[in-house]
Parts: sequence; C-alpha cells; structure tokens
Amino acid sequence: MILLSIETSCDETAICIVKRMRGKSVRFEVLSHKVLSQVDLHAQYGGVFPALAKREHSKALTQLIATCLEEAGLLVQRTNTHHIPNASRKKLDILLEREPDMLSAMKIMFEEIQKPAIDAIAVTSGPGLEPALWVGINGALAMNMIWDIPVYPINHMEGHVIASILTHKDECYEIPAIEFPACALLISGGHTELVRVPKLRSYKVIGKTRDDAVGEAFDKVARMLELPYPGGPQISKLAESARKEGIVVDDHFKLPRPMLHTGDLNFSCSGLKTAVLTRIHKLESVDDLTKKKLALEFENSIADVLVAKVKQAMYENKAKSLIVGGGVSANTHIRKSLKKLSEEEAFELFLPEKNLSTDNGLMIASVGLLHITEGIKPRTKIKANGSWSVEDC
Ligand code: KG4
Ligand code: ZN
Repeated sequence: MILLSIETSCDETAICIVKRMRGKSVRFEVLSHKVLSQVDLHAQYGGVFPALAKREHSKALTQLIATCLEEAGLLVQRTNTHHIPNASRKKLDILLEREPDMLSAMKIMFEEIQKPAIDAIAVTSGPGLEPALWVGINGALAMNMIWDIPVYPINHMEGHVIASILTHKDECYEIPAIEFPACALLISGGHTELVRVPKLRSYKVIGKTRDDAVGEAFDKVARMLELPYPGGPQISKLAESARKEGIVVDDHFKLPRPMLHTGDLNFSCSGLKTAVLTRIHKLESVDDLTKKKLALEFENSIADVLVAKVKQAMYENKAKSLIVGGGVSANTHIRKSLKKLSEEEAFELFLPEKNLSTDNGLMIASVGLLHITEGIKPRTKIKANGSWSVEDC
C-alpha cells in the first residue's frame, strides 16, 4: 500500500509518499518527503498572508507532487500525450476554477504521465487557513477524479499528535503502542491546547488559549524585537545564548506568568505580549543585550506556564504518557523543561523529531495510514474547515 499525503494548511506546501509494511501496527518506509516553505515571502509582511499563501500553494503543488513521484520511482512518462476525455476535462475546469495556476499544471501532468502506483491520498482539510487548505483538497480531488485514487481528509492537529509518537529506525517509521490514558500538549502558530487522549484516535480538549496561541505570541514578540518571521526560532536562539552567557534578567524586565494560578487548564498569551511591549516602550532603544534579556524572560514565562498546566493535566487525568506536538515543540528550552517534568513525575514523554515538529507531509501520511488501518472510509466530498477541532476528527 502506497500513500501520498498533501499538507497546505498554512505557509508550507508539503508532500510525502510512504509505503506501508505488512503487519498489525502502522509501519512505513518514506519514499519521498518534501516541504516547500513560503517563509521568505511572508517575512516581509511579518506573518502569513492567506491570499498569498493560497496563490503560492496553487503555483507549487503540482510540480512538488511530480518531483516526489519521481523521487519515489513512481513517475512514468507517457510515450504519447494522453487526451483527457472532454467530460473529465470539464469537471476538472469546474473543480479548479479558483486555482488557475494549478489547473493548467495539473492538466499537463495528467496528459504527460501515467497513473502512478498510489493506492490512497491523505490531505489536510483543517484546521488552518481555508484558502490555503482548499488548494490541497482540490489537488487531491483532481487526482481522485482523473486517476480514481481514494482520498482521506485528515485533521492537522491529529497529524501533530501522531508525528510526536512515531518511532524512527532504519528508514522505517512506526506508530508504537503507548500507555494510555495520555495527555497531549499541542502548541503551534494557531493552537495552544491540552487534550485528553484516553486511547488512540480519541481526543477531548481539556484546556486551550483564550486569545493568542503560543507560537503566535513568539512570532509577535519577535516582531516587537525586530526579528524576522517566523519568530519562534529567533527568540529561542537569543534566549539560548543568554542562558549560555549567564545573562541575568533585571527586575524591571520580569514578566508575568499568565493564568498560572487560575486552577484550570486554560492559557492566555495576549497579556504577556503586551507586557513585553510595555517594557520596550519604556526604553529609548532596544540593544542586543536587552533583546536577549526579553527573549529569555519571555521564553521562561511561557515554559513555566506550560509546565505547570501540563503537570496539573497529567495529575487530574492520571495520565501515563505526555504527547507534545506542533511547531513550538521544536523549542529547546520547552523540550528540556518538559523532559525534566517527565523525569520528576515519572511519565513517558513523546516529543517529535525536530524536523517533524513544524508542518510537514509525513505527519499527514502517518494519520492517513492509521485511518486506513482502522477501517475509516475515504470521501468524495471534502470541505476545508478552518476551525476543525481535533475532538471531532
Ligand atoms: O505547527 P506549525 O509549523 O504551524 C502551525 O500549524 O501553526 O507551527 C509554527 C509555529 C510558529 O509560530 C513558529 O514561530 C513556531 O511554531 N516555532 C517555534 C520554534 N520553531 C517554530 N517557537 C518557538 N521555538 C522554536 N524553536
Ligand atoms: Zn501545524
């Protein structure tokens, strides 16, 4: 069984082709895995611009699919151009009328290459930016229409959960058996959620942010410090060098730990971001040392709150495993802090490989295989759902 996955929920166009191995558990080999980032383009706006993201996905997707098929050894050129039957051509025109770049590229692809040996397609259909999601979905539906390959809609946050528990050995990935109940901490550019996971594929949101997501706060604070987008890795780099240099944060740079003592599992990052701004406004200029101090204190504040809320969630749910996923899980200090907590509290910690923390196609492919294994049926009608909760997937 060979599966191709598509991820276009934000500013990364990602494709992955995997081959499932025989056996009860989900084990697979990666035949091709590519992520095309639009970061440089969005950097000039200081954040992701949805219409631009859609246009770029639409320009890039078909070529990326062809490149991955080639790398996977699945691209076979036709000797004679195949003419798409008129009825299918009309349907394709209607399906892709809002993605003209993709329509012309896909027509060429369908004419020039043979149907590849792909058994299933998994595509992110939410949550995320709807205009961006539609590009991936319509690309998948076009392949379904012309090549008759079944399509599975995948929840992006479930992708982050599964990417975190994957084990990786000798070019082979596996979804291992883990101890339940588990809790998942999902921290990305659009989400900050604590989720109870009583068993595989069962999710209940038990806490979330009331305003900004953690990744969003990292990006906004980075912008205040005149650091390029995406700000998470930039803040992290500054904070790490501040730690190494033993820089001490002066009292007037100390920041609050929002909602630390509210007793619930919710978060708030907007006040913290404003607190950073207030500190900056009091200064005449922000030199490199000040940037390091603010980055360090901001990151410490986020980590302190995450650790405290996770500890409470693990305790209240008698959880045996903690799954941490989403782009912010690439953060070194947050990873170390959660590792320390897992050692103190004796629970098992699942962190994604760093390259699987941020958005990618492998996370969507692994959920696709899991769905197929669990007997979930493919769909012919799929809609983008920007706010699709992991609870309902
Ligand atoms: O999961 P992701 O790639 O996209 C969404 O689904 O949102 O997460 C992107 C977010 C961005 O806000 C980015 O700044 C943040 O993850 N991020 C980090 C780090 N690497 C990425 N935040 C803190 N530290 C990092 N090392
Ligand atoms: Zn994500």
